[in-house]
Amino acid sequence: MTIQWTPDLAMGIASIDRQHQRMIQEIATLVRALNEGRTLAVGPALDFLDQYVLEHFSNEEMHMKRVLYPGIAVHRAAHAAFVEEFSFLKRSHREKGLSPALVLNLRTWLFGWLVNHIREMDMSLGRFLLQGKAQRSRLQAAASPSPGAR
Ligand SMILES: [Fe+2]
Ligand SMILES: [Fe+2]
Repeated sequence: MTIQWTPDLAMGIASIDRQHQRMIQEIATLVRALNEGRTLAVGPALDFLDQYVLEHFSNEEMHMKRVLYPGIAVHRAAHAAFVEEFSFLKRSHREKGLSPALVLNLRTWLFGWLVNHIREMDMSLGRFLLQGKAQRSRLQAAASPSPGAR
């Protein structure tokens, strides 16, 4: 499994897509450190991801609130479940170091969760946001006809 961002993961919302790219990059960095046995790099990588993921989720949730997204409750619950699982992994790292179970989770679950989440929940949100944007520009165009049309 190659951990990298691919264009089929693009939602079309630039700020969110940039954050997804960065998150995938960071997961790849973390997994590379694991594979190369650079154990000291793991703690800082987990801390960075933890912070970045929180920022990312609140960015998405800000968009959801702004447009009164109907799927907000389910989407937020998925984010919260991730945060809980991730803090469990961080705690396990702090208390027991790199156990085989933790390494497996970091190698597979992190990226797997993110890609599934982007493909399902984030893409639905992206479609909703883009629809709203298109509708707003249609309304704007109708409200202000071009000078030549008068
Ligand atoms: Fe996302
Ligand atoms: Fe999301």
